[in-house]
Amino acid sequence: MKELIDKLQESKALSKHEWTVLIEGRSPELAEYLFRQARSVRHRYYGRDVYVRGLIEFTNYCKNDCLYCGIRKSNLKASRYRLSKEEILSCCKTGYSLGFRTFVLQGGEDAGYDDARLCDIISAIKTGWPDCAITLSVGERSYDSYKALRDAGADRYLLRHETYDAEHYAKLHPPLLKAADRQDCLWNLKKAGYQVGTGFMVGSPYQTAGHLAEDMMFIKELDPQMVGIGPFIPHHDTPFAGQPSGTLELTLFMLGLLRLMIPKVLLPATTALGTIHPQGRELGIQAGANVVMPNLSPTSVRKDYALYDNKICTGDEAAECRNCLERRMESIGYHVVTARGDSLNK
Ligand code: 5AD
Ligand code: FES
Repeated sequence: MKELIDKLQESKALSKHEWTVLIEGRSPELAEYLFRQARSVRHRYYGRDVYVRGLIEFTNYCKNDCLYCGIRKSNLKASRYRLSKEEILSCCKTGYSLGFRTFVLQGGEDAGYDDARLCDIISAIKTGWPDCAITLSVGERSYDSYKALRDAGADRYLLRHETYDAEHYAKLHPPLLKAADRQDCLWNLKKAGYQVGTGFMVGSPYQTAGHLAEDMMFIKELDPQMVGIGPFIPHHDTPFAGQPSGTLELTLFMLGLLRLMIPKVLLPATTALGTIHPQGRELGIQAGANVVMPNLSPTSVRKDYALYDNKICTGDEAAECRNCLERRMESIGYHVVTARGDSLNK
């Protein structure tokens, strides 16, 4: 097993069979071996810096019906909201003064924000804070739409592929959503000139080590600037309410593997990781992650952006989260920095 990790470290790639064997055969001892190497790679490129992204969850309306997600359109109990341009700009203002230099605009697939409206918001942010990067996370759109948003000033785009395998994808999504369409969007985003982030949930229902192996191989091929992964966590008003959460242990292991496979990738220790374990984000950083994404959304809407149950920070002001994360990172010998934090993986 250690030889497979050494091989990954040297060649940055494994076969599907090797990935599967490594993921299935992992042990606490092997994980320690992996994390030591992942940390040293991370320190080589990013030192002990931790980049922060201010997450603005600007709409929880969504036309999709992903079976795992708390804001799926069939969840009639979700209390829906949209932030106005002024509210979004006010989040940026607060965020800038707290040292954020990247704003992530994340939302459901909401037809209420067409290209014109989003472009207007993007250019207003770019005018107000020209030294900041804008990351969009608004789902599947056409190439022309991606291009228009890019031309308006968006720098980066997050779109998790969720799972590479078409059959597994079909078990997590309604029939109209296809794995291949999702992947096409990612290639289009690259073509449109974005720094691209993809990713997947760890421990989603029906997931096997073989699926994770294929996820790693797809990510290798896409060669993204960012990879967001976090444990699946059930939401009580979804069809997956009774499914078990993904584990801390497997999520950390996958983070370490990602760091070795794409050494310069930006890798967040996600809120979902912080939700399944009180020190999840710290452990994520120690497994090779180098980004955290505290919430900048107004506290009045925080609890309504509930993709899964028990999400942390839903009652905390932006400044509290910023300070909390700074303390948490310092406690393990890392430092939150005020920087755009562009990927070194060009
Ligand atoms: N548990 C964990 N992650 C989830 N996401 C959506 N629902 C859940 C859930 N129940 C993730 C998806 C999506 C991202 C925004 O949040 O991977 O891409
Ligand atoms: Fe939000 Fe700790 S990061 S309270």
